[in-house]
Amino acid sequence: MKKILIINGPNLNLLGKREPTIYGSQTFEDYFQTLQQLFPEVELHYFQSNHEGALIDKIHEIGFTFDGIVLNAGAYTHTSIAIADALSAVTTPAVEVHISNVHAREAFRHHSYLSSRVKGVIVGLGLKGYELAIWYFTN
Ligand code: DQA
Repeated sequence: MKKILIINGPNLNLLGKREPTIYGSQTFEDYFQTLQQLFPEVELHYFQSNHEGALIDKIHEIGFTFDGIVLNAGAYTHTSIAIADALSAVTTPAVEVHISNVHAREAFRHHSYLSSRVKGVIVGLGLKGYELAIWYFTN
């Protein structure tokens, strides 16, 4: 069974309540259940933190044994060299996901420190982006 970890960064614990016109009205906990139903053959794990170091610790913890990381680092995407280095330090490949189309938003969201350290990037497709990333790791 493939092991895949979804990591959500800061403020993504508020999905469903946070700026619903941008991020939708579904909670991630709800959507996670849908993902488990869609991929019964995958051992899916989920981790969310608002703290940069906790995200890095998690990448280190699973980054030599899991088959894939689906990472939405939230605003740390645009600021964190430390998360980028963590992705380079481990052997588990990652896919970067953004719910909103960051390129259609403020200029500071156009640059990602993480994109060069991942297999690929999915932006702007809503929560479906997570599904597509898992599909990539399993097909
Ligand atoms: C986000 C986009 C980021 O710019 C923002 O800071 C987030 C969410 C997205 O999923 O669209 O927190 O990563």
